[in-house]
Amino acid sequence: MTQDEMKQAVARAAIQFVVEGEIIGVGTGSTANFFIDELGKIRDRIRGAVASSEATASRLRGHGIEVLDLNQVSSIPVYIDGADEIDASGAMIKGGGAALTREKIVASVAQRFICIADASKLVQTLGKFPLPVEVIPMAAQAVARSLQAEGGHALLRMRDGAPLVTDNGCHILDVSGLSITDPVALESRINQIPGVVTVGLFARQGASVCLLGHADHVQELRFA
Ligand code: A5P
Repeated sequence: MTQDEMKQAVARAAIQFVVEGEIIGVGTGSTANFFIDELGKIRDRIRGAVASSEATASRLRGHGIEVLDLNQVSSIPVYIDGADEIDASGAMIKGGGAALTREKIVASVAQRFICIADASKLVQTLGKFPLPVEVIPMAAQAVARSLQAEGGHALLRMRDGAPLVTDNGCHILDVSGLSITDPVALESRINQIPGVVTVGLFARQGASVCLLGHADHVQELRFA
C-alpha cells in the first residue's frame, strides 16, 4: 500500500465515527481531503459540517455538503482530522497545512477528536516535525526569540518568496530542534508568549481515537 492508499483506508474507516443527523467538524490536509471525499458519499446522513480552513470549506461544498459557521453551532459530536505527528498519549503536532488555529478552535468545540493518519505519523517523542506556531505578523521575531529560549530554532514559513499568510491573516513560525517530552507543559508555556495566536501542539486536548494506516490494516488506538 502506498502512503496515499493508507490515508484513504483510514479516511474510509473514519466514516463509522460520523454521527447520523449531526454536524461534523472537518480538518485540513491530504488525509482530511480523502475523508471529505468519503463524507461526500454519505452527505444525506449528516446535517452539515464546520470546516477548519477555507480549503476544506470549498472541498466540502464541492461535494454538496452544507458548511456552517461555527457561530451557528453549539455542539459538534465529532471532529475528524489528520496530524503531522502523534504520540502514544494522543498528543499531536499539527499545522503543516497552516490551518492549526481553526483546527484547534473547531476541535475544542467537539466532544471527540478522531485522528486519521498513516503509520509514519506515530512517534515516541514529538518534535522531529518542526512545530508550527501561528503568530501576529508584527510579533514574529520577538516570538522567535522566545522560542529559541525553549531550545528551538524558529523559521518564518515562506510561500512564493513572501511570508505565508494564513486564513486568519497571520504568519507561521516552524520550530525545529525541539524534543517535546512534556507536550502539555510546552503547549501552556508557548500559549503565554505575547503575539502567539496558536501553537500547533494539541496535547491539553489531544485525540480521543487515532486510526492509523498500516500496509495491510487500520489500527485503532484509543486514548483516555
Ligand atoms: C493542517 O494544518 C494540519 O494540521 C494537518 O492536519 C496535518 O498537516 C496533516 O496533514 P496531512 O494529512 O496532509 O499529512
